[in-house]
Amino acid sequence: MKLNIAVLPGDGIGPEVTAQAVKALKAIAVEFNHIFTFETGLVGAAAIEKTGDPLPEETIRICENADAILFGAIGDTKYDNDPNAEIRPEQGLLGIRKVLDLYTNIRPVIAYEDLLNKSSLKKKQIKDTNILIYRELTSGIYFGEKKMGDDKASDICEYTRFEIERIAHLAFKAAQSRKHKLALVDKSNVLASSRLWRKVVQELAPQYPDVKLDCLYIDNAAMELIINPRQFDVILTENMFGDILSEEASVIVGSIGLLASASTGDKHAMFEPIHGAYTKAANKGIANPIASILSAAMLLDHFELHEEADLIRDGVDKSLKLHITTPDLNTKYEHITTTKVGDFIEDFINNPDETNLNFTNIHLGQSTII
Ligand code: IPM
Ligand code: MG
Repeated sequence: MKLNIAVLPGDGIGPEVTAQAVKALKAIAVEFNHIFTFETGLVGAAAIEKTGDPLPEETIRICENADAILFGAIGDTKYDNDPNAEIRPEQGLLGIRKVLDLYTNIRPVIAYEDLLNKSSLKKKQIKDTNILIYRELTSGIYFGEKKMGDDKASDICEYTRFEIERIAHLAFKAAQSRKHKLALVDKSNVLASSRLWRKVVQELAPQYPDVKLDCLYIDNAAMELIINPRQFDVILTENMFGDILSEEASVIVGSIGLLASASTGDKHAMFEPIHGAYTKAANKGIANPIASILSAAMLLDHFELHEEADLIRDGVDKSLKLHITTPDLNTKYEHITTTKVGDFIEDFINNPDETNLNFTNIHLGQSTII
C-alpha cells in the first residue's frame, strides 16, 4: 500500500517521540513491502516561532493532501504562564481538528498485565481493564464563542443534534463489536447541552438493541472509572469531559506516556498520543515514545493493515515485558532512552523471532554476541 503521511512533531517531547513512531512505520514498510512517504509540517509553538502562526497555511495544505497525519505534542510553558497571550500553540492543534473535521477521538485504555504494579491503583481493581473512550473533538466548550475581559470571561458550550448523532452512531457500533456496553457521560442534571446529548443518544439506542446503554454524570463517572474501571466497555462523551476522563484513565494504565489516540472524520484521520508537550522533559531522552508508537499502530489499523499494527503492538508488549522502557515505568534498568525504546521496537519489527535474551542483552548494551 502507498501512504503519504504528514508528520507534525510540534513542541516539547513531540519531535523525539514522533521520530520513534516514524522509525516503526518505516520498518513496517520494509517488512511488508509498503511505500510510506513522510512530509513534515510546522505546528504549535514551533510554528509560532518560525512563522508567527500556530497553524501555517502550508501545514494545512500538507495535512489535506496526506492520507493520514501523525501528530506529536503541543504546548510551551512560555504560553502556559502568560494568560494574556492571544496567539497560543494549542490553537494549532484545535485548528487542525476543526479544519479537517476530525470529530471522533478514540482513546483506548488497556491495563497491561506487565504493568499492573506500576499503577497507583490496586492491581485487583484494574486487571483486565479494556475501555474505548469516544471523545467528541470538534465542538462543545472548546470551540464555542469566547469572551475575555479584565473582570469577566466566558466560554460557550454548544452542541447540535447532528454533532452528537454522528459520533454516537460510531460509539454504538464500536460497542457492538466489543462487549455491547455503552456509557454516555454527561452532566445533564445541570447543563442544557448535556441534556441534548442524553436525549439524542437515548433516541438512537433502539437502533442498537444489542447494546446496553448506561448514562452517568461526569462527576460520578470520574469516581467509577477509578473504583471499578472494568465495568466500562465504550465510553461516549463530549469534548472537555473526554479530555479529562482520558487523562484520568491513564492512571489505570500506569503512565500517560502509553495512551494513544485516533482522531477521525469522514475524510481525514490524525493519530496522536494523548499526552502533552511536557516541555521540561524535552531533549533529555526520558520521554516515553510508546503512546506515539501505538498511535502509529492505530494509523495502520485505520487502513486495515491489522497484521502490521499487531506487529507494532507485539513489539510494545515485548518492550514492556523486558523492561525496555523509559524511566516513567522502568525501575529495573538505568536510563533506557526514548531512542533506545524506539530502536528496540524497530528491531522487533525486523526480527520478531529473536530470543528474549538476545534482545535484552543487545539493547542494554550487554551483548558480546553481536
Ligand atoms: C489532548 C490535549 C489537548 C486537548 C490540548 C493540548 C489542547 O490535552 O489532546 O487531550 O485539550 O484536547
Ligand atoms: Mg488532554
